[in-house]
Amino acid sequence: MGLLFTVCVFCYFTLVAGGMSDGMPYVRPPSNSSKIGLLISAAKRSSTDPDQIHVSLAGPGYMKVSWMTADKNVPSTVQYGIQSGKLLQTASGVSTSYRFITYQSGQMHHVKIGPLQDSTTYFYRCGGYGPEYNFTTPPPSGPSEPVKFAVVGDLGQTDWTMSTLGHVAAYDYDVLLFAGDLSYADYIQSRWDTFGQMMSPYANYKPWMVTEGNHEKESLPLLVESFLAYNTRWEMPYKESGSNSNLYYSFEVAGVHVLMLGSYTDFDTESEQYKWLQVDLAKVNRAKTPWLIAMLHAPWYNSNTAHQGEDESEDMMAAMETLLYQNNVDLLFAGHVHAYERNLRVYKKKLDECGIVHITIGDGGNREGLATDWKSTQPAWSAKRESSFGFGQLNVVNGTHALWSWHRNQDVEAVMADEVWMTNLNAKPECARKA
Ligand SMILES: *[C@@H]1O[C@H](CO)[C@@H](O)[C@H](O)[C@H]1NC(C)=O
Ligand SMILES: *[C@@H]1O[C@H](CO)[C@@H](O)[C@H](O)[C@H]1NC(C)=O
Ligand SMILES: *[C@@H]1O[C@H](CO)[C@@H](O)[C@H](O)[C@H]1NC(C)=O
Ligand SMILES: [Fe+2]
Repeated sequence: MGLLFTVCVFCYFTLVAGGMSDGMPYVRPPSNSSKIGLLISAAKRSSTDPDQIHVSLAGPGYMKVSWMTADKNVPSTVQYGIQSGKLLQTASGVSTSYRFITYQSGQMHHVKIGPLQDSTTYFYRCGGYGPEYNFTTPPPSGPSEPVKFAVVGDLGQTDWTMSTLGHVAAYDYDVLLFAGDLSYADYIQSRWDTFGQMMSPYANYKPWMVTEGNHEKESLPLLVESFLAYNTRWEMPYKESGSNSNLYYSFEVAGVHVLMLGSYTDFDTESEQYKWLQVDLAKVNRAKTPWLIAMLHAPWYNSNTAHQGEDESEDMMAAMETLLYQNNVDLLFAGHVHAYERNLRVYKKKLDECGIVHITIGDGGNREGLATDWKSTQPAWSAKRESSFGFGQLNVVNGTHALWSWHRNQDVEAVMADEVWMTNLNAKPECARKA
């Protein structure tokens, strides 16, 4: 009986958790930076003090402040103002918590504040407790307004992650785009807390916009709903963008419309996500947002041997590539493969001057290490590929030009290892919108 029980429990976890370990030949180079210890000590705070703070964009003119408290009675209010020490305005929001088998989370607060001025630093305090923080709002909307994005994927929480975050922080970006696989909690919920503490010093003053990866799913059929921790902790502006799921949404900043797509929820042509995407794309006005970029987790163009042939890549590409192509999407970022790969404009596996530039940036630094094994023949669409930890900078200079660069972590300093100018498709008459 005892043996049968053990075997059943084993089977259950093997079945549901099978997707969590990728079974790939990951190699993790040694690192000599170790700041994780500092984070854990920072976690010793009073039960009312804000913990794991992050901010995000929440519709035109609004931002959301999210944080956790151990104390359930802390009000979900944010006091804020443009002068330090004079937090004269107050906004209220909501808080929730969740249970994951035996783990009980703290109270997660989400407060939307605004309307706010563009490109302005606001000072804020969470729930009436703890120190004053600040964040800076993004640049104004406008077709030729410049904006800088930091682009990361598959961060996890290792010393390599810390190295990536240090390099990201040294870049004067406006908004961070995160292609999924955040904490690598993998069912161990306290890891979501340590991840939240780790990223808070970086995400409490610049908006972080995320989409989900396979490690966010944490599915335990019949016991816990999928994406419970992720959806509770990382609430993105899906309602503001007409989506009914936190797993896909869109937002606009400066002259850029960003589609945050979901690789781990339905994406077929009959799905809610696909229907939402059609409606969202129809609303895009390229005269207002000449740039159209997409982000998702599982790459469609990938010449690494890791993660080949997965449904989330192939079936999603089969369902959505033409729709994105017809709408002249300029760039598509993905994560999942723990390496860097930049592709040329491509459509249906063929070079196409009106196609999408696909970039895999799954090299944030998680504990699974790097995917070092590439297909021996580099496909014609693959322009640059390297297995190193790092992050990207997308510097949108104006309505037609953007400078993309990839910075590797190999060294104490970030080293730029790939750089290319991009011109947007909307500006090319031969690529006139086909939808
Ligand atoms: C880490 O290693 C590099 C290369 O070996 C060295 O130059 C650097 O000083 C080391 N950094 C620390 C913090 O020990
Ligand atoms: C805003 O917060 C960041 C991060 O904590 C800090 O480095 C910066 O000095 C603050 N800015 C102002 C104007 O206080
Ligand atoms: C946009 O930026 C590029 C690169 O700096 C520049 O060559 C181009 O003239 C700019 N276009 C406009 C309309 O300012
Ligand atoms: Fe992944």
